Amino acid sequence: MIGIGVLGYGYWGPNLARCFGECEQTRVVAIADFDRAARDRAARRHPGVTTVATMAELLDDPRVDAVAIATPVHAHFEPALAALRAGRHVLVEKPITTSSGEASRLVDEAARRGLTLMVDHTFTFTPAVQKIAELVGGGEIGTLHYYDSTRVNLGIVQSDVSVVWDLAVHDLAILDAITPERPVAIAAQAASHLAQRPETMAFVTLHFASGMVAHINVNWLAPVKVRRTLIGGSRQMIVWDDLEPSEKIKVYDKGVTLTGDRDAAHRLRVGYRSGDMWAPRLATTEALATEIDHFAGCIASGRTPLTDGLAGLRVVELLESAHWSMRQGGRPIDLSLERKAS
Ligand SMILES: NC(=O)c1ccc[n+]([C@@H]2O[C@H](COP(=O)([O-])OP(=O)(O)OC[C@H]3O[C@@H](n4cnc5c(N)ncnc54)[C@H](O)[C@@H]3O)[C@@H](O)[C@H]2O)c1
Repeated sequence: MIGIGVLGYGYWGPNLARCFGECEQTRVVAIADFDRAARDRAARRHPGVTTVATMAELLDDPRVDAVAIATPVHAHFEPALAALRAGRHVLVEKPITTSSGEASRLVDEAARRGLTLMVDHTFTFTPAVQKIAELVGGGEIGTLHYYDSTRVNLGIVQSDVSVVWDLAVHDLAILDAITPERPVAIAAQAASHLAQRPETMAFVTLHFASGMVAHINVNWLAPVKVRRTLIGGSRQMIVWDDLEPSEKIKVYDKGVTLTGDRDAAHRLRVGYRSGDMWAPRLATTEALATEIDHFAGCIASGRTPLTDGLAGLRVVELLESAHWSMRQGGRPIDLSLERKAS
């Protein structure tokens, strides 16, 4: 049994504690939060588990083999580094850190010590994203042409991070998981419609060398909740509506081909294919439970997690570049130059 310490028992921490409690390979031994009321809540829900205030106290507990960090984004790096230095495996909430410099330091520290470092890119472990990755990886969709996501609602307006760091991070992590191709340019336009708050809406565009384009629309001030992504490929197209109770993914055998037909020269020489639509059956497993099983399995076997520290670093690099673009009114940032410089 892997002994787990959870740091941060606010909104998301209880989900981690519950899933670690239900996982057959792990046991929650301690929960830390510097807020007294949060500790009282944790003690009521997890009788027998020690509650403490700080990461230092978690690390003093020899039963803690691994820690899960669910504090606000600015409070990920210091506790994660302390845990790695104390020889503990680490699962950190998304985004892994507030800067790529910090993320690199965590990646190096974990590698040097042979410890598992994983970031909670929860969507990667949803049955929907796993199916999309399978369809894309298996070639059924063909060459990817576009990924077009709308992720809006009347959301929890964060005080320390913009909507890009809070919501677009999910799409950047999903793209990282479904295609090995990395973007060559990113541009982001954003606005804040609440005084003294970070940006509340943004449009992020990524360009890939293959010609693929990804567009991400995120907004905390939308009247309705929309979680809809269109993925277009040369062979098939996917509509993923995450709010659908069933049939979240629909695959359309639709497309357009240039015919080269001389007789059709007066028309547009475009052939339209409009075939069947099918909805693949998706597992009903909870993504976080799958992810925590995976984390425990990686610790036990020494395997590299699907969402390892490097995946966390790649996503933070994109978030930083999106931020620079936003500050310059949406100027595209050439990521190939950024990579050469680093
Ligand atoms: N994976 C997901 O889908 C998902 C969803 C929501 C939130 N998150 C992530 O979870 C993290 C936490 O978000 P939240 O909404 O639960 O925040 P929150 O503010 O509700 O909870 C954070 C808790 O951490 C405690 N805390 C903060 N700093 C601490 C420290 N240094 N030592 C001890 N306790 C400390 C606070 O007292 C609070 O109880 C964020 O990184 C967020 O991005 C992930």
